[in-house]
Amino acid sequence: MIDEEMVNALNRQLNAELYSGYMYLSMAAYFESIDLSGFANWNRVHAQEEFTHGMKFYDYLVSRGARVTLTEIEAPPTEWEGAFAVFDHVLRHEQLVTGLINKLVDLAISQKDHATNNFLQWFVAEQVEEEETAGGILKKVKLAGDNSSALLLLDKDLMGSSTGSATE
Ligand code: FEO
Repeated sequence: MIDEEMVNALNRQLNAELYSGYMYLSMAAYFESIDLSGFANWNRVHAQEEFTHGMKFYDYLVSRGARVTLTEIEAPPTEWEGAFAVFDHVLRHEQLVTGLINKLVDLAISQKDHATNNFLQWFVAEQVEEEETAGGILKKVKLAGDNSSALLLLDKDLMGSSTGSATE
């Protein structure tokens, strides 16, 4: 039997993952608006990945016989000051998500809920990858700086990305 406090916390994380997807999709739309379609592609693919994360929480709650409760998803920002600002935001957001996952693990441990702890370990590993990927792209965008040729090369590179770990 899964504890009610845990069910509520997992439902909040489901919402947070859907928000992440919404945020990445808004970033994709921003990049489309400034004609960086490779960056747009990367963010769009990543949005899809976040919706998949959300569904993992959905499926886990259902498998434990718990109620999935969907709540309002906050509106994401729609404008940034260029690619560096977007990826700086991405990295900070992923660090925040890592903190949320760690708190869920803390709760699972405190409740001796081994099944939920085991379920969450996939996300613990995933967040290491998420932060590494975001940090990697941020470094490249920083290196490109005001050099539009370098930025366009990076954009071309990201055009082919079909997973969150593009360019790595
Ligand atoms: Fe679902 Fe980007 O963490």
